[in-house]
Parts: sequence; structure tokens; C-alpha cells
Amino acid sequence: MKVLRTIGDYKLHLQQVKSGSRTVGFVPTMGYLHEGHMSLVARAKAETDHVVMSIFVNPLQFGPGEDFERYPRDEERDLALASQAGADAVFLPSAAEMYPSAVKTTVSVSGLTERLCGASRPGHFSGVATVVSKLFHIVQPDRAYFGMKDAQQVAVIQQMVNDLNFPLAVVPCPTLRESDGLAMSSRNVYLSREERKQAPVLYRALQSIDGWMNEEPHMTGAMLEERLRRMIESAPDADIDYVQVLTYPGLEPVEAPLGAADTFIAAVAVKFGNTRLIDNRLFQKQ
Ligand code: PAF
Repeated sequence: MKVLRTIGDYKLHLQQVKSGSRTVGFVPTMGYLHEGHMSLVARAKAETDHVVMSIFVNPLQFGPGEDFERYPRDEERDLALASQAGADAVFLPSAAEMYPSAVKTTVSVSGLTERLCGASRPGHFSGVATVVSKLFHIVQPDRAYFGMKDAQQVAVIQQMVNDLNFPLAVVPCPTLRESDGLAMSSRNVYLSREERKQAPVLYRALQSIDGWMNEEPHMTGAMLEERLRRMIESAPDADIDYVQVLTYPGLEPVEAPLGAADTFIAAVAVKFGNTRLIDNRLFQKQ
């Protein structure tokens, strides 16, 4: 596995890869890898010839007072895991390599970023869209793989790719979960023992939706949000940031009863102590 720390070195590497007409699969990450990331690499390996992973904790997508400084980092462990997963190359730039001077050009996607995490974390999605644009230009993938735990991020990146004609396919991949249902996330390491015990309430609430909709065929988005809230609040340390039911990928309020909606997402963000967790469930008519 090649480890490339500069854009120049990556470009030389890419020349060799492309001279063999190989397709490039890309898994962008902020490191502190877990099985969710590994599953993205596995999917990329199955669908492309050469898999590139990036590891970069992007300062642009963290707001003041957020966890940029304490975001977990372990380069040695990440490189061992990336190699074990079968990545062919890891692009591991420094902040100075990615942002050699103050950034004056950013990418922002309107509409989709006004609700959910976009409302709670102003500037976050512009930071994500900007770094992902840069990474797409540098890495030049044919296919890019993203986990659906960050469903809003997937919608934003897909919109950006469509609007700006990036020549690649965005591939949304299922959320991987711990055995008790907690969605895998690099931030789970922040949870205390007690918080970790309570956190799977998010999964249990999202899983309860099917039963509630069977009981109440005319369930609306607002009714479902209320039930989710009540169940999540049964965990003593849960501090709800949002519980929202929206169309997907448009992220608009659902007007009709949910049974009639083609596709909707139930998305939650909840703090346990200082740790903010997100999760969601997507319902798509067959
Ligand atoms: O999902 C993430 O880990 C990040 O938002 C991403 C896509 C790597 C951009 O920094």
C-alpha cells in the first residue's frame, strides 16, 4: 500500500494508475478508522481496480467550540487498518498541504444544508463540500463511497456532483452498527460507559417506526417525530438536538401522511454528555 502525503506525489502515483486504464475507487475519511470505513473499502474493491483512501481531519468543517482539536487521531493504527482492508493507496496530506494559504474560494450547496446538521452546525457543509471538491480534483476517482449514517452529507455531495459536473459516481453505502445497534462512528470513543449504555436508544427508536406506522396508518411526520422524541428522552442523558422527518434527498417537510410518501428519512442528532451522535433511517417505497 502506498502512502502519499503531498499532492505532487499523489499525481505521480495517479499517472501510473491511469496509464494502466484502471478505474479508481475513493473512500474519503477523517481517520480513526472503524469497520464502517472498512466496509466502504471492501465495496470499492469489488467495484473498481484501484482503491484510494484519504485521511484528513478537515479544519474547515468544524465550527468554533467543536471537537477539531480533540477529534481522535491515530495514524499508525489507521495505516495498519487501511492496509488490512486492502486499500491500494492512502492520501494523507497535512493541513498546510491542503490549505497552503487562507481559503478564499468555498463551495456551498443551498437548500439541502438549511435543516438538520446544517442548522445546528453553521458552515459545516460548506467545509465538507469544499474539501470534498478539492479531494475529487486531486484524487480523480471514478467512484466515491460514502456511508449513509451521514445521509445529509451524501445528499449534499450528490447535489454538488450533479450541479458542478464532477465526472464520477457517488455510491451511498449502508450504515454499519455495533451488536446493540449503535451506528459506528469515530466519535463513539468519547462516550463514557454510562453514555455508551444509553446511546443505542437511537437505534431502538428508529427501529420502532415500522410498528408505530402499522398501528397508526395515518401517521404524519410530526406524529412520528413526537414518538421518536418521547422514546429517545426515556434515556436520562439524552439531550436532543433534532428529531426530524423529511423527504430524501430533497430534505423538505413531508406534507402527506407518511404511508403515501415515496421516500422519507427519519433523522436524529442527540448529545450524550459532550458527544453528539447522529443516526437515521431511510424509508423507500419499493
Ligand atoms: O464523512 C467524513 O468523514 C468527512 O465529512 C469527509 C467526507 C471525509 C470530508 O472531510
